[in-house]
Amino acid sequence: MALYSDKVMDHFRNPRNVGVMENADGVGEVGNAKCGDIMKIYLKIENDIIVDAKFETFGCGSAIASSSMATELIKGHPVSDALALTNKAVVEALDGLPAHKIHCSVLAEEAIKRALQDYYERNGIAYDRSQFPDCENCAHCRDH
Ligand code: FES
Repeated sequence: MALYSDKVMDHFRNPRNVGVMENADGVGEVGNAKCGDIMKIYLKIENDIIVDAKFETFGCGSAIASSSMATELIKGHPVSDALALTNKAVVEALDGLPAHKIHCSVLAEEAIKRALQDYYERNGIAYDRSQFPDCENCAHCRDH
């Protein structure tokens, strides 16, 4: 069996939603200290719906495919769905990732959560901090 599924290769070669978003309602950036990869997700949110999502990923093919798939999975969906998106769901939608590449999909889940947290903060919306596991340790909370 090939190491990477057709879907991973497709989203790696033809990533959806790449780019910077001007006037985003929420921006989330995360990195993995071990591999050095960085992922940034931009969200446009109207009436509690993710009307658009974009990403910039400086990282491996699996991270690019994960960001591409993750943005596709949340576009057009309510904020609550995006908040509930797990890296497992991203991996399943990609028809799997090799075990040593699972962490790449985790970046996508974390970047989306970070962008949603940014959206809540910017708009003064109360939210449950326990939904953001690394909240206290991430740069956002630490430096603000
Ligand atoms: Fe680090 Fe893929 S190797 S995100």
